[in-house]
Amino acid sequence: MRLYDLRAEGQPRPICLAARVPRFSWKFADAPRGFLQDFYRVQVSRSDDFSPLVWDSGEVRDTRSHLVEYQGPALEPKVSYWFRAIAGGSGVRAEPWSESCCFELAPSAWGAPFIAAEDEGRGDSSEVRSLRKEFVLPFVPARARLYATALGVYGASINGHPVSDAILAPGWTSYDRRLAFQAYDVTAFIQAGENELRCLVAPGWYKGCLGWRGQRNIYGDRLAFSASLEVDGLSGEALIVETDDSWESASSPWISAELYHGESYDARLEGQERWTRASVVPSPSAAIVPQEGLMVRPKGRLSSARIATPDGSVVYDFGRNFSGVVEISAHGPRGARIVLRHAEVLDAVGNLYFENLRSARQRVEYTLAGGPHESFSPRFCTMGFRFVLVESGAEFLEEESLDAIVYHSDFEADTTFECSHEGLNRLSENIAWGWRSNAVDIPTDCPQRDERLGWTGDAQVFASTALRLSDAGGFFRKWLADLRSDQLPDGGVTLVVPDALSRFRPAEGEVVMGPPHTAAGWSDAAVIVPWEVYRSSGDRRVLEESLPSMRAWVDRVREIAGDSLVWSQSPQLGDWLALDAKPGSFFGATPPDLVATAYFARSAGILAKSFRAVGEEGEAIRYDELSVSIVRAFQREFVTSTGRVAAQTQTANALVLAFGLCLPEHRARVSVDLAALLSTNGGRLTTGFLGTPVLCDALSESGRVDLAYSLLLCEEYPSWLYQVRMGATTIWEHWDGLKPDGSMWDSKMNSFNHYAYGAIGDWMYRNIGGIRLDDDSPGFRRVSLEPRPAAGITRCRHVVGTPYGELSLAWELVGGNLEVEATIPPNAQGRLLLPDGERLLGSGAWKVSAPWEA
Ligand code: BGC
Repeated sequence: MRLYDLRAEGQPRPICLAARVPRFSWKFADAPRGFLQDFYRVQVSRSDDFSPLVWDSGEVRDTRSHLVEYQGPALEPKVSYWFRAIAGGSGVRAEPWSESCCFELAPSAWGAPFIAAEDEGRGDSSEVRSLRKEFVLPFVPARARLYATALGVYGASINGHPVSDAILAPGWTSYDRRLAFQAYDVTAFIQAGENELRCLVAPGWYKGCLGWRGQRNIYGDRLAFSASLEVDGLSGEALIVETDDSWESASSPWISAELYHGESYDARLEGQERWTRASVVPSPSAAIVPQEGLMVRPKGRLSSARIATPDGSVVYDFGRNFSGVVEISAHGPRGARIVLRHAEVLDAVGNLYFENLRSARQRVEYTLAGGPHESFSPRFCTMGFRFVLVESGAEFLEEESLDAIVYHSDFEADTTFECSHEGLNRLSENIAWGWRSNAVDIPTDCPQRDERLGWTGDAQVFASTALRLSDAGGFFRKWLADLRSDQLPDGGVTLVVPDALSRFRPAEGEVVMGPPHTAAGWSDAAVIVPWEVYRSSGDRRVLEESLPSMRAWVDRVREIAGDSLVWSQSPQLGDWLALDAKPGSFFGATPPDLVATAYFARSAGILAKSFRAVGEEGEAIRYDELSVSIVRAFQREFVTSTGRVAAQTQTANALVLAFGLCLPEHRARVSVDLAALLSTNGGRLTTGFLGTPVLCDALSESGRVDLAYSLLLCEEYPSWLYQVRMGATTIWEHWDGLKPDGSMWDSKMNSFNHYAYGAIGDWMYRNIGGIRLDDDSPGFRRVSLEPRPAAGITRCRHVVGTPYGELSLAWELVGGNLEVEATIPPNAQGRLLLPDGERLLGSGAWKVSAPWEA
C-alpha cells in the first residue's frame, strides 16, 4: 500500500494559498479490501529532503485522509514547504514516506504599485494595451515567482514565454471589494543577464462591455497592472522587480478585445509599438487577495467540419456547443483580412442564427502581416458557439477545417454516466457540456449572449449536479466569497454575483434589477450552494466561512416575512420561465408567495443542518425550530386541512413534496394531485426554473418513480429528450427554444446553453447511477448505493472522482437478477441497498447479485 496524489488545500502544487493553516489530503493505492485509515503522520519541511523539519505531527490516531489541518508553528508566506505522510489502518501501514507535495502560502499583503496601461479618458477604447520592463539579473536564478493582478484581464510573459496557459486572469470578482492576484512559478523563464517582462491588459469584465444595455466601464475606465517579480539566487541573492514608473506602455496588435464581442488583431502592428513611460496610479480600494478559485485554462480541443448552408456561406461545425476560441492558421497577402462569426444554432432553413446573441458580436477579425505562416487565437475572451461562419477571407485559411480550444475553469470534469438508454447518455453529455461552458471563472447563466452573468438562481439549482460532474468545490468557494462581499448589510443577496446588475441602468418596467435583493430561489444560493459544496467535498471551512452570510440571509427573510412567516413580498422571479405562464410572460403560474415561503423553509432547514455540521448545536436547534414553524405557516396558508395544495400547479405540488412541506398523512394526496396535473397535461411538464429541479424527486420520493421516469424519457415537447431529439448538444434555456417546426421561441431570450434545466442530472446520477451522498459523512466518505432500474433501462455504469479516489457503481438486469459491481475507494464505505437487504461495503471491488422484480 502507498499514498499518492498528495495535495495541500485540494491542489497538487499550490503556490498561492490564501489559507495560513493549510490542510493536507492524500489517497491510498494498493490498499487491502475494506481499508480504513486509523492513523497518520505528517511532516513538513522547508526542503524536499525533509531536513530539518518544520513540523512532525507524530502518529495521530485519526481516520481522516482528506483536509487534515497543519498544526505546526506559523508558516511563512512565499516560502516553499514540502509535506509528506505515512498512514495506515486495518493492520497495514503505507511506508516508507510518501512522495512529497510542495506548497507555498501567498504573500500576506499586496505592496506593488499599480501602473496605468493607458492614458486617462480612454473609457471608450476596447484596445489591448502592452506594458514592459527590461531589467538585468546579476546572478543565476534559483527560484522566481511572479505575483500579478490587473484592472482588466491580463496575460504576462517573460522573455517571450507566457507565464501560464491560463486566460482571463485575474478572473471576475466583486472588483470594488475584492481583486485577486495570481502567483506564477517563472523560474524556467528567467535568466542571468538581460530579461524582459511584458504584459498585455485587455478590458475584460473591469472596463469592457457588460450587460444587455451596452454599458461599459462598470468598475472603472482605465486599465492598470500591478506585479512583483521576486527572484532568488543560488547563494542567497535576491532581486525584486515591481511595477513602477520605469515601466513603459504602448498599444498592441489587438485593436479591440471584448468578452462579448470578440477580438480584432492586426498582425501588421506586431513589433510596431511606440513605448512611452507608464505612470503610477492610485491602488484600488478593494482588498487584494490571493487567487482562491481555479484559473480558466485550455481544457480540450475540438475540430470542425465544413458544412453547406442554403445561403452558401463558408461554415464550420464543431459538432457541439461549448465555450472557447478558434485557432486560425493563415497564409495570404499583407493586409488581407479574415473575419469569423460564432453562433450556436442554425435557423429554420439551415443558415447560421445570430439573433439570440442579442448585442454580443462574437466576432474575430484577423489582419494578416503577410508572413509565410501566421496563426492566431483570441486570448482575452471566450465565445459560446458550435458554428463558425467565415464572413471574409476564407481563401487565406491554411487548413481545410478550423480547430478550437475549449476553455473553462480548471476543474476535472471526469464523472461518467453510461446506461442502456442512448438518449439519456446524450442528455448526460449535454448536461456536462452545459456545465463546462458556463464555468468560465464564475458560474454563468449562458456563455454566448450579452449576459454571461453569475445568476444566483441558476447556480443554486445546478450546484449539486455541477459538483457531481466535477471537483468544483474551489470554483464555488471563490464565487461564494464574492456572494458574501456583495451581500447587503441587511442580509439581502444580489441576483447576480459579482453584482454587476445593480450598476446597470434599468429600463422602464424592467424586473427586479436592484434592491431589495430578495428573490426566493435566487438569493437562497447563499445557503444552498455552501451546503452543496460541503456535502460533496466534506470541506467544513466552506460552511464556517459562509455561516454568517447564510444566517444573515435567513434572518433577513424572517424579518420580511414577519410573524406570519409567510414570505409574500415582491418582487419575485418565482417559477421563472414555467410553461404555465400567461402568454408573453416569463413568470410561471405558481404564486410567488408559495414559492418564496417554500424556499424560506428549505433554507432555514439547511442552515440548521449546517450549524450542526460545524458543531453549533444550539444554533442548529434554533433554526430547526424556525424551519418547523415555517412549514406550519406554509401549511396554514397554502395547504387545506384535507391536504390539497392551494395552488394546483405542478411546481406547487412538487415543491411541497420535495421540500417536505405538508403533513406526512397528506403526502399521498399531494402525490396523487401532482400525478393528476401531469395527466391532464398529457403527461408533460409545465415547470420552470424552480419547479423543474424538484419535479422528478417529488415523484420518486412519493411513490411515483414510474412517473419520474416517464417524464425523463418523454421525447415529445416539452422534455429533456425533446431537446436531445432536436439535436441539442447542451441544455436550453427554454423548453421550446427550438420548436418542432424549426422556428425559435423568441430572439430576445433564447440561449441554447443554459444549465439550469440540466439540474435533472443530480436526479439521474442518484437514481439511475445509484450513487447518493450521505450528509452525515460528506465528501463521498460514505455513500449510499441504491440503483433503481425501471422503465426498460437494463444497465448503467456511473463513475465519480472523489477525495478518496474513484468510486463506481455498475448494475445490470440479467434475468430476474440485479447484478451489481461496485468499486469503493480506500478509506471510504458504501451502503448498498437492494430489495433483499442492506450490505456495508468497504473499499475494494464488489460483485453482488440480488433478485429483482421489475
Ligand atoms: C438569465 C437567467 C436568470 C434570469 C432571472 C435571465 O436573463 O439568463 O438565467 O436567472 O434572467 O431574471
